[in-house]
Amino acid sequence: MENNFNKAVNNFSDLGLHKISENLAAYIDFINKGEKNVVDSLYELTQMEIKLKAERAMNACVKVANFPYLKEFNDFDFSFQPSINKEQILDFQYLKFLENKENIVFVGSPGVGKTHLATSIGIAAAKQRVCTYFISCNDLMLQLKRARIENRLDQKIKFFCRYKLLIIDEVGFLPLDVESSNLFFQLIAKRYEKSSTIITTNKSLSKWGEIFGDNVLANAILDRLLHHSHVINIVGRSYRTKDIFDAKEEGDAGLSNA
Ligand SMILES: Nc1ncnc2c1ncn2[C@@H]1O[C@H](COP(=O)(O)OP(=O)(O)O)[C@@H](O)[C@H]1O
Ligand SMILES: [Mg+2]
Repeated sequence: MENNFNKAVNNFSDLGLHKISENLAAYIDFINKGEKNVVDSLYELTQMEIKLKAERAMNACVKVANFPYLKEFNDFDFSFQPSINKEQILDFQYLKFLENKENIVFVGSPGVGKTHLATSIGIAAAKQRVCTYFISCNDLMLQLKRARIENRLDQKIKFFCRYKLLIIDEVGFLPLDVESSNLFFQLIAKRYEKSSTIITTNKSLSKWGEIFGDNVLANAILDRLLHHSHVINIVGRSYRTKDIFDAKEEGDAGLSNA
């Protein structure tokens, strides 16, 4: 009996059912003491295993999404950024925008929380096991350009089109050369109305001609991006430098009181 118990534990482990393997002894004890019946025990043990598998799958999706940091909505202080409509942002976690193939564009100066919120939405999607990928515009361009040189641009664009949610961070941080601008257009055109893209940018949309070096191309990109989209303009202070300026204000106040 004892011997077969150990064999059963090993079998569960070999089958990859580690939660059952770990908890079997405790449950057999419950059953022997009459604290639980066999059916309930089987149900609870299998539920534990299912929960663990779901958690692992969720964590794997979050891991492959390549987020710069793992910050979620709970980590965001909405009171610091009153220009943001909190309900509108929190609503994105239910992923309706993905079903509708809508895009989200965060516009704002550095430090206002664009990347944080884009990441929070991405994590919400990845946790629902939506195929999600985060990339900076700069890295995206490097990858597309390399693919073009290696004669596999089509494959690379298809690769980026496979993600149901693609987050392109820091569009407009650096102006793009003609080749990059065209590659960016190709990718956006291919994803248009098929899957959602989140963009963060520090440049107001009316100035996108400066990013792509060409107003016609910038308009063609914006036309597709904005057709079904949510544009979130964040107007406010940088969270990165808030302590420096708060400290300075306190210092100034102290000086004026003196
Ligand atoms: N309202 C906020 N509440 C909490 N943390 C914030 C807030 N806004 C920004 N941050 C934090 O400040 C840093 C800069 O924000 P980030 O989203 O990266 O800025 P950017 O708008 O330049 O993309 C990050 O560490 C981010 O988590
Ligand atoms: Mg950013």
